[in-house]
Amino acid sequence: MDISGKNFKAFLARQEALKKQYSPKQAEKQHAKGKLTAWERLNLLFDEETFEEIDAFVTPAAQNVEFGKVEKSYGDGVIVGHGKINGRLVFAYAQDFTIMGGSLGLVHAKKIAKIQEMALKMGAPIIGLLDSGGARIQEGVASLAGYATIFHNCIQSSGIIPQIAVIMGPCAGGAVYSPALMDFVFMVNHTSFMFVTGPNVVKEVLNEDVTFDDLGGAEVHVQKSGVAHMIYEDEENTIMALKKFLSYLPSNNMENPPTIPYDNSTPDINNKLRDIVPDDPNKAYDVRDVIILVVDRNSFLETSELYAPSLVTGFARLQGRTIGIVANQPKVLAGVLDINSSVKGARFIRFCDAFNIPILTFEDVPGFLPGIDQEHNGIIRHGAKMLYAYSEATVPKITIILRKAYGGAFIVMNSKSLGGDFSFAWPTAEIAVMGPDGAVAILYRKELAEAKDPVALKKELVKKYRDKVANPFIADELGYIDEVIDPALTRKKIISAFEALKNKWVKVPSRKHGNMPL
Ligand code: HXC
Repeated sequence: MDISGKNFKAFLARQEALKKQYSPKQAEKQHAKGKLTAWERLNLLFDEETFEEIDAFVTPAAQNVEFGKVEKSYGDGVIVGHGKINGRLVFAYAQDFTIMGGSLGLVHAKKIAKIQEMALKMGAPIIGLLDSGGARIQEGVASLAGYATIFHNCIQSSGIIPQIAVIMGPCAGGAVYSPALMDFVFMVNHTSFMFVTGPNVVKEVLNEDVTFDDLGGAEVHVQKSGVAHMIYEDEENTIMALKKFLSYLPSNNMENPPTIPYDNSTPDINNKLRDIVPDDPNKAYDVRDVIILVVDRNSFLETSELYAPSLVTGFARLQGRTIGIVANQPKVLAGVLDINSSVKGARFIRFCDAFNIPILTFEDVPGFLPGIDQEHNGIIRHGAKMLYAYSEATVPKITIILRKAYGGAFIVMNSKSLGGDFSFAWPTAEIAVMGPDGAVAILYRKELAEAKDPVALKKELVKKYRDKVANPFIADELGYIDEVIDPALTRKKIISAFEALKNKWVKVPSRKHGNMPL
């Protein structure tokens, strides 16, 4: 090839022009807002010199628009490509706010759609780094159609490749539905926000004053709405956390999650587990204390930590292999299942099932949360999601009943009759139709009403109920659990149960899809 030829010179000139597009002044503007540039983000995310950009030179579709103007830019405000993260292939797109506010025009959308389709075909995760003013106003309906294609691709890829959105700036209007359709949403505190309509519209329509952060900031979405799952204080920490997060996941639904070398440093038998659940059934404890002694040391990575905290979800490892954890949290509302925790649990279980991640459940739950608010907002419908998700999941499923397992909550938390594979109970387990107080009040209403000392009678009956009914031994004798175990042996038992389930295979009857209670 003649490297002094016309085309080669033009090629070099274009490379030079592309480099110049990313000026220090633009970078400064991003830095001044506490944000990195799109390239800085990609360079942090991918293993050194592995990211390969494609479509760097495409230009916006419509430069002669009727309203406003569209800048001629290379790449149309989004960088797309592939590279390696911890040595594994990952596809990504990073919106560039310095070019027309990262707004999404037709070509910008086509680039994202192209990389989504490549990721799906190649069976590799896709990561979206979002920093955009939304649909490019100047390009009108073409932008909307572009979003529709991206949404369609998210849905086509759902359950086949992991899709993770990282919100690193604005994400407004219908644009929010792209992260909403992905598996996990990460947000950076104070510099990212998501809302369907911004503070101005809220003011106009409802005459309410609200700030960007209070309406759709990261804290709102990880605590209240549940739209986002992970929050970090700055972009560097967000990206580092994302890389760690990916290490738990397989590249696609045909693979098993990666196994990392295991150093034998976690004791399989641990007497400390005997001391966590208090003797007094009304006393709380932190279920995380159980989780961290059972899974590989330092391997527990909690998801949606701040949302619906009466249920703990997250990934961990057992002898280097990824598992999903679902655990009632007695420290928050006694570990009750409410609408939000049911939805949180169901979505997590479905993710694990889609990506071949075995599920370990720790159960200590007094039941579903009673009350007008919960009933009127559909605890029946939402609680059913947990049932559906557990029952539908075909990955290996093990439950450890730590303490309370009353009523519908006993059933829902992966009981054997619902399709759970192994169910173990600690001697502290209380398995019954309902808690002692409720049971005594119903069965002995008349006696209590007529008693000289109803308080003393109730106390006696509650004790009798606990001794005779609310224990793990009846379920054990009837085979509704597999074994009552010494808490110290929990990890050992789980390891051998998952080992036994290694080749679990379930034939699912053919159907278009089930009709999950949404
Ligand atoms: C075209 C846009 C744009 C957009 C921002 N810009 N949003 N251009 N279309 N949607 C441009 C600005 O004109 C400006 O250009 C540059 O990006 C930077 O924007 P600023 O406003 O100067 O930045 P900042 O003050 O940081 O404010 C950022 C912002 C604000 C909060 C995101 O730009 C904003 O409110 N944008 C509109 C957000 C929105 O409502 N989007 C929803 C669109 S509807 P110059 O040339 O001055 O640098 C939608 C529907 C999708 O998305 C439906 C899918 C189903």
